[in-house]
Amino acid sequence: MKRLVVCVWFIFLNQLNQYGVCDPSIDIENLAFLNRTTPSDRQLYDFRLEHPEPIGITTTSSGLPVEIRDTTALNMNQYKNQFHVDLMTDFTNPRIPERVVHAKGTGAWGYFEVLHDVSKYTTADIFNGIGKKTPAFVRFSQAIQSLGGYDTGREQKALSVKFFTREGNLDFLSLHTPVYFYKDAINFEPFGAVIKRNPKTFRRDFTAFWDFISQKPETLHATFWLMSDYGLPNGYRKADYFPIQTYEIRNKHGDRHFVRFNFRTCQGIENLPDSEANLIIPRDPDYFNRDLYDSIEDKNYPSWDLEMDVLSYDDVRRVNYDPFDVTRLWKRGTYHTIQIGRLTLNRNPDNFFRDVELAALNPSNLVPGIPGPIDSMFRARRFAYRQTQIHRLGINHNRIHVNTPLYRKEYNRDGKPPVLENMKDAPMYFPNSFNGPVWYVDESRPKDSLSLLQSKAVDLEVPAEFYHNYVVTEGQKGRFVNNTIALLLPVAPYIQRRVIRLFTLVDPDLGRRLTRSLLQAEQSPGFAPPRVLIPPKKHYYSSEYNMKLHG
Ligand SMILES: *[C@@H]1O[C@H](CO)[C@@H](O)[C@H](O)[C@H]1NC(C)=O
Repeated sequence: MKRLVVCVWFIFLNQLNQYGVCDPSIDIENLAFLNRTTPSDRQLYDFRLEHPEPIGITTTSSGLPVEIRDTTALNMNQYKNQFHVDLMTDFTNPRIPERVVHAKGTGAWGYFEVLHDVSKYTTADIFNGIGKKTPAFVRFSQAIQSLGGYDTGREQKALSVKFFTREGNLDFLSLHTPVYFYKDAINFEPFGAVIKRNPKTFRRDFTAFWDFISQKPETLHATFWLMSDYGLPNGYRKADYFPIQTYEIRNKHGDRHFVRFNFRTCQGIENLPDSEANLIIPRDPDYFNRDLYDSIEDKNYPSWDLEMDVLSYDDVRRVNYDPFDVTRLWKRGTYHTIQIGRLTLNRNPDNFFRDVELAALNPSNLVPGIPGPIDSMFRARRFAYRQTQIHRLGINHNRIHVNTPLYRKEYNRDGKPPVLENMKDAPMYFPNSFNGPVWYVDESRPKDSLSLLQSKAVDLEVPAEFYHNYVVTEGQKGRFVNNTIALLLPVAPYIQRRVIRLFTLVDPDLGRRLTRSLLQAEQSPGFAPPRVLIPPKKHYYSSEYNMKLHG
C-alpha cells in the first residue's frame, strides 16, 4: 500500500516516466532533488537506482580480492599492501597525451539513416538503400580549449562523426563554420601557434592572433564567421556542421561529381551572445557537455540532416572560382543541393575515457567511391591525423573498441596493445600462396584523376559577401564589432591599424564602425569582460620605450 501511494505521488509530479520504476526508497526529499537537477547531475544517483546492491567485491588490477584491513596505509609496511601499491601507481600513470587541438569535447553514439535515393551520385554503401541504418559515433569538440577549459568561448566547434559502414569506417570531421582559415597547408603549424598560448606569458595572445590574421587576409572569412553571432552557438546541438572540403564522389558507371557535405541541425540554429556566455563560464564550464548529455538522457535525441552541394565534373572545371578553396563558399547559383539522410544520436557513452578520449577521428578514413579531396589541405591531413593518433594512442588505435571497423582483415601485426586477435595464424605477408586476405576489383574506378593548381591570390570579395549576407541588422553589426573589439583591445596599435585597414577594404562602413567603437572602448576600462584592464606602468610611456619601439 505504501508503495502504491508513492507511485501516485510520482505520476502526479510527472517524474516517474524518467525512471520507469516505482522505487519506494525515493522519498519527498529525493523528489525535490529530482526537481532541481538535470540528468547529468544525477548520474551517480541513477547508478544506485539501477544497482540496489554493491556490484561486487573490490579487487586489485590483477584480481586479488581486497581485505578490509588493507584499505588504509597507516601504521603498516606499505609494500605489503598490494592494494595501496596498485592505487598509487594507477594515480601516477593513467594519462595519455592531450590532443594538440580539439582537446576538450564530448561524444555520443547513434546512427545514420538514408532517407533519399542518391545512387545517381554515389556507390558508397552507407548512402544507398532508403531506410538503411549505419551505426555512428560522434565526438564534439572545442577547437582551442585544453582539456580543462570551458565550452562557451568564441571558437570553432566540431562534430566529428565516424560511420561504421560495411565498407570500412568513414569519418567526416566537421566544423560549425562552413569555411576554414587558410587553404595552404603550410599554415597548420604557425596558425596552431597563434591560437594557442604565448611561450613566455602562457596566455592566449591576441596580438599574435591579429598579427597573423592581418598578414594572411584569406583568414578573414573564417574570422568573420567567428566574430558574428554564428561564432558561438548555444550548445553543440544548436549548430550546423561542415566537413568543408570538396569531396569527389562517383556512381556505379564511374561518373564523378564534386560535393560539399553539410550537416543541418534539426534543433534549429541558436546562438549565444557574449554577455550571456561570460556568465556561464564560471558557473558551468561544461555547459555544452551538459546540454548534449541531458537531451539524450531525456530521450530528446538530437539529429542533423546530411545534404550535399553538388557540382558536376564539367561544372567544377568551368566555374569562375576555386571550388576546392576551403576559405570560400561556393557561389550561389552555381550548384544544387541534394538531401541524403539523417544522423541521430541516441546513446551517451557509459564511459567517457573509453569512448570519447580513445576515439581516433581521421578524415582520411574513407570508403570505396569517395576517394578523398585533392587539395593541399587534405593531402596534409591524410598523414597528420594518423600520425597524431599514433602518438596519442599508439599504432593500434584502430583496434581500440570505439574505432574498430565492422570488418577488418589486415597485414599489419603486433605493436602496443590492444592487438585484438592480431590476425591469429593467417599469412602475414603478401603476395602469399596460402589464402591470406586478397584484393577486390572496382570496375567503376576512373583511370585518371583531376589535378589542381591553386592560386595564392586573396579575394576580399569573399568576406565582404559574408558580411553583407549574414551581418545585416544593426544588432548583428553591433555585436560583430563588439566581439571583434573584445579581442582587439589588448593588441599593439600598429597591428590594430592594420586590422582596421583590412576591415575597411572589405567594407568602408564596417571600418568606420570598428574605428569608432575601438576608440570608445579604449576610453572605458573594463569594456571587455572577463579581461581586467590594469593601468600600464608609467615607464611604458617614456620616450626611451618609444625610441626602442620605433628606433
Ligand atoms: C556594444 O558594446 C557597447 C559598450 O559596452 C554597448 O553599449 C552596446 O550596447 C554593445 N552593442 C551591442 C549590439 O551589443
